[in-house]
Amino acid sequence: MPLFSAAITGVASYLPEGILTNKDLEQMVDTNDEWITSRTGIKQRHILKEPGKATSDMAAGAVKRLLEKTNTDPSEIEMVICATVTADYNFPDCANLTATKCGINNAFCYDINAACSGFLYALTTGSKFIETGSLKKVIVIGADKMSSIVNYEDRTTCVIFGDGGGAVLLEPNEEGYGMKDFVFRGDGSGVEFLYQKGGGSMYPASEETVANKEHYVFQNGRPVFKAAVTGMTTTVKEILKRNDLSLDDITWLVPHQANLRIIDSVASMLDFPKERVMQTIEMYGNTTAGTLPLCLNDYEDRLKKGDKVLLTAFGGGFTWGTSYLTWAY
Ligand code: UT7
Repeated sequence: MPLFSAAITGVASYLPEGILTNKDLEQMVDTNDEWITSRTGIKQRHILKEPGKATSDMAAGAVKRLLEKTNTDPSEIEMVICATVTADYNFPDCANLTATKCGINNAFCYDINAACSGFLYALTTGSKFIETGSLKKVIVIGADKMSSIVNYEDRTTCVIFGDGGGAVLLEPNEEGYGMKDFVFRGDGSGVEFLYQKGGGSMYPASEETVANKEHYVFQNGRPVFKAAVTGMTTTVKEILKRNDLSLDDITWLVPHQANLRIIDSVASMLDFPKERVMQTIEMYGNTTAGTLPLCLNDYEDRLKKGDKVLLTAFGGGFTWGTSYLTWAY
């Protein structure tokens, strides 16, 4: 049993100003609004266009808003974890750069790279430092500048992804609200279906990797789609079973926003009412580690103290899982 409950006590988001619509994409690749809308549910995505700006700038935008909203002084923050696959550099980590941009100087910071499941993993990691009594104020970020690794000549990926993210503050909660349970899984054999081939230790950047466009996201969509629906549905069921919960007990299901058809399939396989499923994909596309905090931010006004919330995600790796929490404010 944890010594303390770790609860989300604030959420904020950041979306860059630039908008890329389906109509814009029609001018760039052989696609059309009807295909994108019917196959993905996406109408537009935000794109960070300013030169010299990277993921840490979006993360810092979210964190500054979070500190302001929660009336927290940057010096009080003890830890910053950033979930991302598009850190500004291979190293140092994005969390460190973000913290410094926000005047957070008393914290230790690191990144978690678990693709679209990154925010969920980071949230659980951060909560453990609170639950053990080691820390009192932890910031968890999910943010990605997917436009930096998307090939805008590849219609199978460029219509899906967008830039943006969000951040939450985790603090001890005396009433027992907050993080309750998680079921996380991984399967490295999924690598062939969704990955960025070049730039790592397997295929370091070279003229060849650039010529072969290996620094861009590669995705074989159909197998990922099927694995995503199965992975999210089974881990939701596992969480419900071992916490003795029925779907009627759950106020909100917060699924990773990769494709509206995936979200709808998960909801219908669970027989969960769609009006209680958070959904932002139409306006933001798939922002990888950013989708879950963006959902929490946009639905913050509708969340109530005590709401039982399931967050579920699936991403490259493969990585997937579901977290269960109760909303604390
Ligand atoms: O966030 C991390 C996890 N990622 C996901 O969960 C994404 C999972 N996958 C998906 O969301 C979907 O598989 C996609 C949206 C990526 C693709 O949708 P799909 O219904 O699986 O399409 P498909 O790849 O099977 O392609 C169907 C057809 C193909 O044409 P043919 O071979 O049937 O003639 C594609 O070439 O659609 C074509 N197509 C397009 N047509 C117009 C693929 N992309 C486009 C496009 N515009 N943008």
